[in-house]
Parts: sequence; C-alpha cells; structure tokens
Amino acid sequence: MCGIISYIGDKEIVPLLIKGLKILEYRGYDSAGLCINNGQELKVIKRSGRISELEKSDDLENLKGDVGIAHTRWATHGVPNEINAHPHLDCKKEIAIVHNGIIENYVGLREILKKKGHSFISNTDSEVIAHLIEDFYQGDLTEATINALRCVDGTFGLAVMKKNENKIVAARRGSPLIVGVGDNEMFVCSDAAGILEHTKKVIYLDDNEVATITKEDYNIRDVYGNGIDKKVHEIKWDIGQIEKKGFKHFMLKEIFEQPEALENTLRGRIKDENIKLSLNLDTRSIKRIIFIACGTSWHSALIGKYIIEKINRIPVEVDYASEFRYRNPIVQEYDLVIAISQSGETADTLAAINEAKSKKAKTLGIVNVVGSTISREVDSGIYLHSGPEIGVASTKAFTGQVLAILLFSLYIEQEKGNKIDHSLIEEISRLPEKARMIFNDSEKIRKIADDLKESKAFLFLGRGINFPVALEGALKLKEISYIHAEGYPTAEMKHGPIALIENGFPVIFVLNKDNLTKKCLSNIEEIKSRGGKIIIVTNDRELEEVSDEIIYVPFTKEELSPILNVIPLQLLSYYIADLKGIDPDKPRNLAKSVTVE
Ligand code: AGP
Repeated sequence: MCGIISYIGDKEIVPLLIKGLKILEYRGYDSAGLCINNGQELKVIKRSGRISELEKSDDLENLKGDVGIAHTRWATHGVPNEINAHPHLDCKKEIAIVHNGIIENYVGLREILKKKGHSFISNTDSEVIAHLIEDFYQGDLTEATINALRCVDGTFGLAVMKKNENKIVAARRGSPLIVGVGDNEMFVCSDAAGILEHTKKVIYLDDNEVATITKEDYNIRDVYGNGIDKKVHEIKWDIGQIEKKGFKHFMLKEIFEQPEALENTLRGRIKDENIKLSLNLDTRSIKRIIFIACGTSWHSALIGKYIIEKINRIPVEVDYASEFRYRNPIVQEYDLVIAISQSGETADTLAAINEAKSKKAKTLGIVNVVGSTISREVDSGIYLHSGPEIGVASTKAFTGQVLAILLFSLYIEQEKGNKIDHSLIEEISRLPEKARMIFNDSEKIRKIADDLKESKAFLFLGRGINFPVALEGALKLKEISYIHAEGYPTAEMKHGPIALIENGFPVIFVLNKDNLTKKCLSNIEEIKSRGGKIIIVTNDRELEEVSDEIIYVPFTKEELSPILNVIPLQLLSYYIADLKGIDPDKPRNLAKSVTVE
C-alpha cells in the first residue's frame, strides 16, 4: 500500500505535497518522492527512507510550479532505494507517474517495451506504466493513459502528468483514489486524510475510471471512453479517523483488513490451479525443513509444520530463532531453513539465518516488508504483500504468513509433478470472503470481551493445527491487555493447568469439527465441572449446549482453519484491551520490530 497526493492550483505546491505525504505516511514509509511541472520541464526529487529524508533535500526550495505529483512508498517490487522510489519517468523525461498497486504482467510488458527501444532505470513494476503511456502518447495524455492501462493486469491507483500540459490524469483499479474538489484548485489522493485540510469535497473513483483534472474542472470517463457523472461527497471525518479509515486503532483496522490482505497475498500466485512463486530454489531436493522465527511468526511456523508434514510428508522442525542461533544446530545438506518475519528486521531471526547460511543450508524468507534485511539475506523469498502493519500486535501478517506457507507447500507438490488438491484451491479462493463473514459477530465478541475483561488469567486450548492458534490467542491477549494467558494443547490441560480452574476461570477452546471433537468434549466437561467458563471458537454447530459462549467461524479445509479461527481471538484481545482503556497500538514495553537481542 502506498500514499499518493497530487495537486494543481495556485498554492505553494512543495510544502502542500510534503505535508500531505506526511499525513499519508502510515500507508507506506520506505521511500518517497515528488515531481513538479513548471511548464518547461519536470523536476523530480526522491529519497529512500522516511519522508523526513525527502524533506531535508536542499533542492526542494527551488522547485516552483502549479502541478505536482508525490508518493510515499511501501515497496512491493524492487528494494526501497532512491532509484525505485516514485515518481517514475518515461524515456524522454516528459511524463511522470506515481502508482499504488501491483502490475502483475510487468515483466512481459517491460520486455515488449525494451524491444521497442525503451530503457528502464528501476526494478519496479510501476515504471512500466510511464513507458507504456509514452508509447501510446499521440498528443492526448488521457487517451494515452487509457490505452496503456488496457494492457495492464493488476491494480493501480495512478496519477500522471506531462511536461507543458497543465493537467493531471488519474486512474483507479483495485487501489483507492479520490479527486479532491477545491476552489480553483484540484487534488488527487489515496485517501481523504491527505487533502482534508484543503477541501472536504471529494469524488471517489471506482475501478477502471479515469479522471482528467485541470485547476478549474474535471472530467471522468471509463476505460471505454464513456463519460461518467460522479457524486461529490462531503467528508465528515477528522484526519485522525481517516488515517485509521474510521477505525479507533490501527490494530482494529488491520484485523478488518485481513480479507483484502489475504487477497493481496494471493494476487497473481494461483493461475489455472498453478501456483506461481518466482523462487530460485530447487524444492525437489528438500529433505527437511527448519522454520526459525520469533513471537507470532513462530506460531505461524508451528502451523507450517502441520501443513507441510500433512501435504508434503517432509519432516519439519520449528525453532525459536533466539535458540537456534546459539545451539550449534545440526544443519545438513538438503535442509531448507525458512525464516518467517513480518518486519524482516528481527535481530534473532537475522542471526539465525546467518547461522544457517554458515552451515551451508539453503534459506527461504517469508517476509512482509519488501527490501528488509532478512529478505535480502535469504537465497529466495515470498513476500506477503499484506501492506504496512502499524499495530505492534501482529494480525494480518500472521494470517498472511500461514497462507504463504500453504502456497509454498502446494508449490513443492507442483514441482514434484504431483497433482494439487482442487478442492483446496477452491477453498483458498473463498478464504477472503469467509474471513469477511466473521466480522458479522464482532459486536457479540465485544460483549464477551466486556464480560471477561476483569479476569485475572486465561487458558487457550487447541488440538493439532489449532494448538498454535491457541498459543497465538494467548500471546495477543497478553501483549495488549496485560492479562496473563497461556496456550496449551487441549489434552495437556489435564497434566497441570487444570489446577488453575476455579469458578469463572475463562478457558478459550479453538475447535474444528473433526475426529478429535469428541476428545475435546471430555476436556470441556472436566473444566465445566470445576466451574470454568467455556468459550468456544469453532465451525462445529453442535457445541452450543456445552459452551457458555460460542463464536462460529465458517467451515473450511483444515489447512486454512487457523486463518479463520484466529480472527475472533484477535478481536477478543483487542476489545478487552480497549475496554480496559489500553492503547492496543502502543502496548507497554513492546516495539513493532525487535531489532536488538
Ligand atoms: C506479535 O504480535 C509481536 N508483536 C511479536 O511477537 C512479533 O511477532 C515478533 O517480535 C516477531 O516479529 P517479526 O515477525 O517482525 O520477525
């Protein structure tokens, strides 16, 4: 997810664009840039790092003009350096673009354009758009942009401008983009937060709509050239709300973003039941897999063990990175060491990867932050594309990790020449929608949270692939509500933890309807008979009478069930923290990325 803001009008353009980028920084912050059109030439300034780095540039003060486009990046293709920062230009440096989204067919388009003589500077997918527009340009920037976008597979929120043309062309497919309507000035922005200071009148572009914008006016068409009348809305929110899209906290926004984040993890990776992962890794020779990770990422690694041992029958070990790095681990030829990390900067995980490499293991990274240290240290990698995860407690990255592991497992089978389970592919495609359905119960979960918020401790229990989900639920609760919680395999409860049970003690069961349900029923009865409060997260509709509270999740394949089962636990923890007056985005003692030992 990136932030775009563009302006055409009489205000001083550079401070306006920079201030807008800073408001949009939560959308992405690994590099930033702007381009000003003074009629004679396009002046571009870009920097890697936060917007404050761009702001330090001495060249900014000389930039004058009344049309400009600006961008703060969340890298999806190409490491976050100055060259890959937006805006991107065509060969003649007469067309500039800023882009938010993923161009799935950029490699093919780039080859075609190179054959036509275009030369590329960056490693990004986005730069292709600038050269495509150049290739189609015959005097009308809107026409050229429409023709170019017809060649594009993937998503875009796009702003385009051309030297000595006093206009901005904006287009949207899959990534949000709005037109801000001012008084003798116009804006294009990723969301209203960036322009709220200037205007509350906005037009929400819909997919495959293209806007041609001058200082005085705008004209909106679809990609077939048909004119479209769009409603001008009046924004009611304040800026703080908009950064969080109306959610009270980033963590809640990111929990609710999971269906979209899962769609982004899948984007372009399953085509006609083929798994498409561009890995420079021969998976056919893998004899053992060792996952290394920390915290929530270690929980997704545990789920990975269940998935890979079930589908691929390859032995899997899971290690805390902090333990692996110091125990002189036995790593053999044909071992694949997989590092899982949202930030890609966790010191223990980075050190563990280096330990694995020193023992000549092949390494794979499953990482969210593009261009992060771990993503550059491993031999090959799978990016989550979950978008920036601002909340300290990891939510959408966790579910993205589990999905990425499943894609990798299916890829291993495909590379062996084995048929992939069609019904599993079907279920994967339904996953975002099923995740969305869970939010219908968010009010019910909030009521359960209100009822439980004064509890002194919790027990989370799960069997099989749901045991790591129980661990994750306990960690979420601990780290944002400061209530002690433990996760256990359900059957382990009898070997000690049951001593904790007293009247009203909350026990959260995570249960799939499967051959173990009956076993879990006896565990539930053992707790119930001692006065424990039974809360069940399940897809089994026959457990109502044994529970004090039950939260249903849609039925899905076992391998996908942790992704659905964890969502109610994320919400429960969030609501308990919020009801206790704790800011879940900034829990005490914690950092988003633990870059120290
Ligand atoms: C999860 O909610 C925590 N914030 C923490 O356990 C986190 O998962 C851990 O520090 C690992 O971070 P990483 O995924 O960025 O490597």
